[in-house]
Amino acid sequence: MSKYLIGITGASGVIYAWTLLKAFKNTGIETEVIVTDPAKKVWEQELGFEWTEVKRFVSKIYLEHEIDAPPASGTSNYSGMIVIPCSMATLSAIATGASRTLLQRSADVMLKEKKPLILVIRETPLSLIHIKNMEMCALAGATIFPAMPAFYLKPRSLQELVEGFVGRILNFLGVKHSLSKSWEQEYEKYQSTSYSED
Ligand SMILES: Cc1cc2nc3c(=O)[nH]c(=O)nc-3n(C[C@H](O)[C@H](O)[C@H](O)COP(=O)(O)O)c2cc1C
Repeated sequence: MSKYLIGITGASGVIYAWTLLKAFKNTGIETEVIVTDPAKKVWEQELGFEWTEVKRFVSKIYLEHEIDAPPASGTSNYSGMIVIPCSMATLSAIATGASRTLLQRSADVMLKEKKPLILVIRETPLSLIHIKNMEMCALAGATIFPAMPAFYLKPRSLQELVEGFVGRILNFLGVKHSLSKSWEQEYEKYQSTSYSED
């Protein structure tokens, strides 16, 4: 049975993490979560409720200073890790192998153990430093998965937009879900619809 590790950092877009954790719970796949201190602040600012609510969906919660926790070791049995959203600060720490916090160390472990590591980065515009850090992480085996939701599936709400994006992550991992339709499913509808300006 697979178990995923989810890292939540202080980048904007913690709603993606909340939606992903809920989706994993609905599929019956176990998740454990690591939350950074900045993530707690951004969470309360953006979502307006306590970050500790994640306890409804995850089997374990770790804080970033818990450097001796199981995810810090390559002997732990995770199918992969998703850092969502991933700040430029954490991206930089992963790119250099800094491993100073549990989240950074866990990402380092995923890379050295050749396990899937998805980095849902969020920043704009990007400096050359950000781009080079992404390049380094990609070369080391991570998947850079920018928080760039698609509009062609015509989301009718913010939640649908987020679910469409989170659905892409689950598709990438090969996890079956009912969050969003595929372009294949929407294509016929699209062909038979004519759009006017109003
Ligand atoms: C409201 C808010 C939004 C932020 N959004 C971003 C962001 O989108 N991307 C980013 O790289 N940093 C963002 N930051 C800055 C990070 O929180 C900051 O760099 C922090 O040190 C990241 O630490 P962490 O990666 O350990 O969570 C934001 C900060 C705040 C307070």
